[in-house]
Amino acid sequence: MGTFLRFLGISSSDDNRVDEATGLTERQKKLVQNTWAVVRKDEVASGIAVMTTSLRLDSTKFFCRFFKKYPEYQRYFPAFKDTPLNELPANKRFQAHCASVITALNNVIDSLHDPALMEASLISLAERHKNRGQTKEEFQNLKEVMLEVLRQALGKQYTPEVAEAWSKTLDGLFTKIYQVFAS
Ligand code: HEM
Repeated sequence: MGTFLRFLGISSSDDNRVDEATGLTERQKKLVQNTWAVVRKDEVASGIAVMTTSLRLDSTKFFCRFFKKYPEYQRYFPAFKDTPLNELPANKRFQAHCASVITALNNVIDSLHDPALMEASLISLAERHKNRGQTKEEFQNLKEVMLEVLRQALGKQYTPEVAEAWSKTLDGLFTKIYQVFAS
């Protein structure tokens, strides 16, 4: 019956079931994974070359925005700390960094169905950053930029329901990260 209702676009009770580990409903997980798939697909398709007017997510745009808002953070990256902001998108070391961040995020979003695995990835990520001297505040600032970029990249698809699903998901992910900084 659930499958039939889903086929008709009517949500089943399964969709509203809250996963206690993440605090998300199954529907919210699907919304996050489906919209991330849009962003991720476009990131690959649009590639790094398409920097101009596209609203689609380009991982280099995401970091350019982050550095534009917090210029002092660029100093943490020896490989491109002195590269002017407008030259960053063409810098291969910068591109490589952006790609590894997006891959890390892909893995986290993919593991929403396996909260223990997701937690393990987040803890190692946070530990590596903490050991390098990054702070909770820097992660909080990145979270805000992530939400802004998602809103912009998804455009009309960023409905209030999608916004709530993402906000809740990022709250959960970043809470795990903050626990590492507090320990
Ligand atoms: C969800 C948030 C983040 C993700 C997914 C992420 C992901 C990554 C990944 C995959 C790497 C390379 C492998 C590693 O050492 O971990 C990395 C390196 C690094 N990240 Fe992050 N990061 C995040 C947030 C931040 C923030 C907020 C900062 C500082 C403002 C930061 C600064 C750095 C630095 C300095 C490096 C080392 C770069 C190098 O020496 O080449 N990251 N990050």
